[in-house]
Amino acid sequence: MCGIVGYVGSKYYGPDVVINGLRRLEYRGYDSAGIAIRYNPGERTDAMYGNVIENWREKGGVDELYDSIPESVIWESNCVIGHTRWATHGVPSRRNAHPHTSMNRTITLVHNGIIENYETLRKKLIQEGYEFESQTDTEVLANWIEYMYNKIYSETPGDLELAVRLALKDVVGAYAILVISPETDNVIMAKKSSPLAIGIADDGFVIASDATPIVEYTKDVIYLEDEQIAVIENNSDIRITDLNAVEVDPVIERVDLDLEQIEKGGFDSFMMKEINEQPETIQNCIRGRLTDGLDQLMMGGIDPVMPQLLRANKIFIIACGTSWHAALTGKNMIEKLARIPVEVDYASEFRYKDPIIKSGDVVIGITQSGETADTKAAMEMARERGATLFGVVNVVGSSIARLADAGMYTHSGIEVGVASTKAFTGQVAAMALLAIKLGRQLGNINDDTYLRLKSSLKSIPAKVAKILSQTEDILAIADEYTDEKYHDFLYLARGHNFPIALEGALKLKEISYAHAEGYPAGEMKHGPIALIDENCPSVFILPNDKDYGKVISNMQEVKARSGKVLAIVNEGDELAETIADHVIKIPECEEIFMPLLTVIPLQLISYQIATARGKNVDKPRNLAKSVTVE
Ligand code: F6R
Repeated sequence: MCGIVGYVGSKYYGPDVVINGLRRLEYRGYDSAGIAIRYNPGERTDAMYGNVIENWREKGGVDELYDSIPESVIWESNCVIGHTRWATHGVPSRRNAHPHTSMNRTITLVHNGIIENYETLRKKLIQEGYEFESQTDTEVLANWIEYMYNKIYSETPGDLELAVRLALKDVVGAYAILVISPETDNVIMAKKSSPLAIGIADDGFVIASDATPIVEYTKDVIYLEDEQIAVIENNSDIRITDLNAVEVDPVIERVDLDLEQIEKGGFDSFMMKEINEQPETIQNCIRGRLTDGLDQLMMGGIDPVMPQLLRANKIFIIACGTSWHAALTGKNMIEKLARIPVEVDYASEFRYKDPIIKSGDVVIGITQSGETADTKAAMEMARERGATLFGVVNVVGSSIARLADAGMYTHSGIEVGVASTKAFTGQVAAMALLAIKLGRQLGNINDDTYLRLKSSLKSIPAKVAKILSQTEDILAIADEYTDEKYHDFLYLARGHNFPIALEGALKLKEISYAHAEGYPAGEMKHGPIALIDENCPSVFILPNDKDYGKVISNMQEVKARSGKVLAIVNEGDELAETIADHVIKIPECEEIFMPLLTVIPLQLISYQIATARGKNVDKPRNLAKSVTVE
């Protein structure tokens, strides 16, 4: 949610580094963008005796920003900061876009997060004579730092670091900030609850909300921890301290991500690219973990908490959005195979509902980004109540990955498309591994079943590839549903595929803006059936499992009311096509793993309906990839 990029170093290509980096971070927010360029004395005729900071901001994406910057602007600087915004306080506009500058122009900063007590700080600043140009909490922070800077000026003139340190002590909320000033060459950054990574390149530092803008220049990254402040001095030296100015030894991590992974690779959208990567990303998740024969699954990340998992009376799984749907599939698999009761909660509800957590309970957080504010806060609250924390996370080194006592990476690679696709199947595959591992160790899975489950899971990547080989046919079927007259869609399924009905509906609504709802097929007659008419299509997921007959009856109920039906069925099913208007046939697998296959055509259907309706599938309106605010 909001992306920050900065370059500080010895080279003068800062503006290009920052603009390119912002393009890579646009998935975090894209309603406005801005860039502040610092010129050293002598680099501009009007800057002979001090630094000058020029600030360019625009409503819209990074392209709009770039196009709005006059050609006359000197496009060379070794100190530049930039921002791409997902609005929280104040509408998307040039005025509310970052970077924000303090009233007396001493402080320019970019910020990701939310300053919760900004109204209190704002009132104090107004009493001190401050005026504000924007509606943002960030401008309040810029002014609050300036206020501190001026307050300490007589004793410690020009000490930007101390001013930031003092200002942040008064701040309640989440922040990742990058601060520059015309009065010093030092660049200050700090973070709490919002991510900030500092890439250490040969010629300087590339700072960003995540590693994607950094890997082009270096793979060596420091992930700033909460309440740490980093200072870059002389454009070359970095020093990290905590809020009390105690020095901290930086931990430099190697980031395993290359540029190809973050580009579109010939597809017309990141979403389509990521849908097509799934045979490989599911394989990456199970590779090395899913052993041959009767050998135990190799999941070293679980070992530290295996005793707690095995004796858990109850497991909680918390997540948001698509990850919450993965949590529901995880519940079904763990309960079926391990026979441990599982409670699934929305993280945003869990954190405020005073849940009954007993010491020793295990709380699993599922998250693609590893930065979702609600999931993180819910896990922190669970830890305070004595729970063991387990993370199922995609982004390596993310906040939740570091917060958990143990966990599994899903190894889906960077997901740029805002609508989650490959990260979801990675999460479901990870939960499948966890369920098998627990079930086997608890003695609930006999040898035959163990071998059958393993072989079925192993076959999934090839089956996903087979479904994707029918992409053209699936898109052609989806074309039958692109007409705007279809304004409501129902997604119906039972059992293991009910979470996929929810996921199919979410995917459609978030990228096409059509209204869609997922329902257990058996619940339809208790209300949603009232919606059915010729303009409200139903998407049925009815693989060849124990619920098949019941779901067929539900489908007939829809047809009897003139509803249009698209059905996802298994190969060999001849009955469904005599009832449904369209069928998509997919391979069979173990019933509990079927969600990994049934979701694929639903992703393609959403993609096609959204594209045909002229929507940008990678950047759906109002959404952001990494939701680091509550
Ligand atoms: C939907 C989507 C969101 C995320 C949700 C949680 O396609 O991507 O619903 O699943 O915001 O995000 P993570 O998984 O990063 O915690």
